[in-house]
Amino acid sequence: MTPPTPPWWSTAVVYQVYPRSFADSDGDGIGDLRGVLSHLDHLAALGVDVVWLSPIYRSPQDDNGYDISDYRDVDPVFGTLADLDELLATLHARGMRLVMDLVVNHTSDEHPWFVESRSSTTNPKRDWYVWRGGRDGGERPPNNWGAAFSGPAWDRDTTTGQWYLHLFSPKQPDLNWENPEVRAAVHEMVAWWLDRGVDGFRMDVVNFVSKVDGLPDGVVAPGALFGDGAPHFQNGPRLHEFLHELHERVFAGRPQAVLTVGEMPGVTVEQARLLTDPARAEVDMVFQFEHVGLDHGRDKWDPRPLELRELKANLARWQTGLADVGWNSLYWSNHDQPRAVSRFGDDSPAHRVASAMALGTVLHLHRGTPYVYQGEELGMTNAVFASLAEHRDLESLNHHREAVGAGADPDVVLAALAPASRDNARTPVQWTPGTSAGFSTGAPWIGVHPNHVDVNAEAARADPGSVFHHYRRLVELRHTDPVVTDGVFALLLAEHEQVWAFTRTTPTAQLLVVANVSSAPVTLDGAELAELGGLGGEVVLSSGPAGDRPAQLGAWEARVLRRRAAARDPSSTRGRSTTRLGR
Ligand code: GLC
Repeated sequence: MTPPTPPWWSTAVVYQVYPRSFADSDGDGIGDLRGVLSHLDHLAALGVDVVWLSPIYRSPQDDNGYDISDYRDVDPVFGTLADLDELLATLHARGMRLVMDLVVNHTSDEHPWFVESRSSTTNPKRDWYVWRGGRDGGERPPNNWGAAFSGPAWDRDTTTGQWYLHLFSPKQPDLNWENPEVRAAVHEMVAWWLDRGVDGFRMDVVNFVSKVDGLPDGVVAPGALFGDGAPHFQNGPRLHEFLHELHERVFAGRPQAVLTVGEMPGVTVEQARLLTDPARAEVDMVFQFEHVGLDHGRDKWDPRPLELRELKANLARWQTGLADVGWNSLYWSNHDQPRAVSRFGDDSPAHRVASAMALGTVLHLHRGTPYVYQGEELGMTNAVFASLAEHRDLESLNHHREAVGAGADPDVVLAALAPASRDNARTPVQWTPGTSAGFSTGAPWIGVHPNHVDVNAEAARADPGSVFHHYRRLVELRHTDPVVTDGVFALLLAEHEQVWAFTRTTPTAQLLVVANVSSAPVTLDGAELAELGGLGGEVVLSSGPAGDRPAQLGAWEARVLRRRAAARDPSSTRGRSTTRLGR
């Protein structure tokens, strides 16, 4: 019997483009599609297989395009539909694929559907959104939920006096997925894009689409202004049904093998097993949020120190949980997260390069599909903003206003934005050491990081010791070594506070990945060395300053060693997934 063919994305690496900040071709200070087209050599040199393009659809840009007013057109700020077709054709000609962002938990309030919906209580589109009467004679919102971008999750519309739900900004009203007409309209739109040739979708907060009946109040945490609605809209009662329906009606039977990745805040491993089980036909993989929440206290603005042991254990749990059914996505960063090297690494000049490489090494050698966020391959760092006026993101600005309004010291709130703001990831990609980092000939919409003089693509591509070339080698390793795709994962030295080590094992080969995830050298003792098999094997990849003794790892040193698999790992008894194959 011929073994079934694994899906193409099991050996692929995805690169995320946030178009606003990638490259500006027309000098208006905002990145655009022709800017993306002009840098495809960079992506080809890195070797990535897929571009995930954050939203380029028509939008009032309240949330930088995550508020869509026309799903079937390109916003003029980014270019035209013809530019998009050209990008798609050019990527395909270069052997790369294009994954679009699919934002269908909500639309813009300027979408014609919502304009109609709000016009009267009897409009045929009224029930396309979530409308309710208010409490206390209509004066108070229907429930106590807070929105993700501050304030209540409801706005009262003056035309009818009723309230509409918006889990994000008031300009992002939630669609009512309970209404079959809404789902049919989404299906039609997705099919339209597939007919155009796109290769998949990253589905924005798609586990928010099914809300619990009755929209009950959430628990109000001590000191919080609003109730937490998440238990009533995250992974809701009809989520599996809605995703399966979308799969069956739209994705199944397409000539292109489509990639679907659902962004799912609050998703658990157990839920992800169901969601990504190929037999259930829902999504291929999910973006989970556990590992990017480990340094949060009460919320993202309240940091707590990250414990390496917790981080390793967390990713290991996802590896084990999805070992025999389903598939992981692997990411450190995206347009909503701070820069990985500043958050998990050490972005000081002495350690920036080595720590970015060490982080890339451990992430890419887990089992799953890695996602590289623009600039991560350059080791780009968090922004350095001196004032609130330099911030752009509505989440940060609203939080500042709300916290200061509630009596907090403005400088303290500003300081809390620094490590956590989404703007960190949104400063322009640093292409050259020149003006505006080669991003734009105009005035960039958000400040360029001053370190572009040293940290830029031109310098990185010319330097074989750069983060870029290390990422390129990681991508290449995934393409060429089946252990990276298939090998069973086993965590080693789980309790070590500086070292991240694991094996990936198939019946014939084993990779040992060892990284010092700290800025201080590590000397391994005899027992530790023994657990790592004496650190023997052929060096496949390494990074960072090597320690001067075999049992010593320099600051942020990472080593990848290949050896013949002598014996099966105890953890490998579950074997390789067979259920996910054959699609
Ligand atoms: C997702 C996006 C984020 C956006 C939000 C609302 O989390 O990644 O950028 O603000 O959804 O669409």
